[in-house]
Amino acid sequence: MSITRRSLIATSAALALAASAGSAIAQQAKEVKLGYALAVNSHYGAAAQAWADSVEKGTSGAFKFKQFPSSALGGERELIEGLQLGTVEAVIVSTGALSNFVPDVGVVDIPFLFRDTQHARAVLDGAFGQELLGKFRARGLIALAWGEQGFRHLTNNKHAVQKVDDLKGLKIRVTENPVHITAFKTLGASPTPMSWPEVIGALQQGTIDGQENPISVLASAKLWQVQKHLTLTSHVYAPVALIVSPSFWGGLSDAQKASFTQGAKVGALASRAFVDAVEKKGVEEAKGHGMQVVTNVDQAAFRTALEPAYKQYAAKFGQKTLDAIAAVK
Ligand code: PAF
Repeated sequence: MSITRRSLIATSAALALAASAGSAIAQQAKEVKLGYALAVNSHYGAAAQAWADSVEKGTSGAFKFKQFPSSALGGERELIEGLQLGTVEAVIVSTGALSNFVPDVGVVDIPFLFRDTQHARAVLDGAFGQELLGKFRARGLIALAWGEQGFRHLTNNKHAVQKVDDLKGLKIRVTENPVHITAFKTLGASPTPMSWPEVIGALQQGTIDGQENPISVLASAKLWQVQKHLTLTSHVYAPVALIVSPSFWGGLSDAQKASFTQGAKVGALASRAFVDAVEKKGVEEAKGHGMQVVTNVDQAAFRTALEPAYKQYAAKFGQKTLDAIAAVK
């Protein structure tokens, strides 16, 4: 056998060995199913990718994330139940359905609770927000970080909503969230709790008139295709929780837990950066697609109309808690 032929055989044998070693490593990587409601090119997708990259790198490939965007594993309620059952390892969800599982979370869903984005981030990253994450454990959920969607605004197909009275009788889809339901009832609308995967169809069919979500969701879901009017109410800040399943968590070493926690924080920051960017251009984009936008909303009038709801929130969550949140600089 010639030297060239012999060295060719040796090279292919070495390559085959390396390939099989590589696939053995790949096979060993534990799959992490990560579900979320929006498309890959959304703030959720940005958070998911950053979380996955950080953990995969931090654990030297011991884990491989498999993403299930666009509600592929069901609505947010199903995702949270999946965590409790251990059928999904990780999720990124809004607080929409969360307070049905962790009632204390409902406090962050109170309209006009946060003065602005900076205030919301300071509260969630501070002692209060971190303690709130700790409360998930008793409910069979391991919450690792707070990400963000932005402030929620109102869209509808009936007419331009300029003032509180314009909400009268409007059928507005809300999340399955008692705090939001109370708010929209108090404002005179007809709130219709509905899981996100049903919303676009319901708007198309006219079974609801409108919905409320941040600009990040409006842009990701191209809501201008099914909605005519946008009112920049900024009525409530929308946090996002990055959560893992307790059965999955229980099987991790301390170093791996640290990696998942660190990765969730990186993911949360990625969602915030995405929201910052999309909020700068999203409204213009909506206008460009023909949406009529009301920008000059009298928020004080909305707050006044919500007084009866604030009484209920104070009774439920404690005025002391609300004051402590307001006091955060
Ligand atoms: O409105 C909702 O249900 C949520 O904001 C959404 C769009 C599913 C994102 O979490």
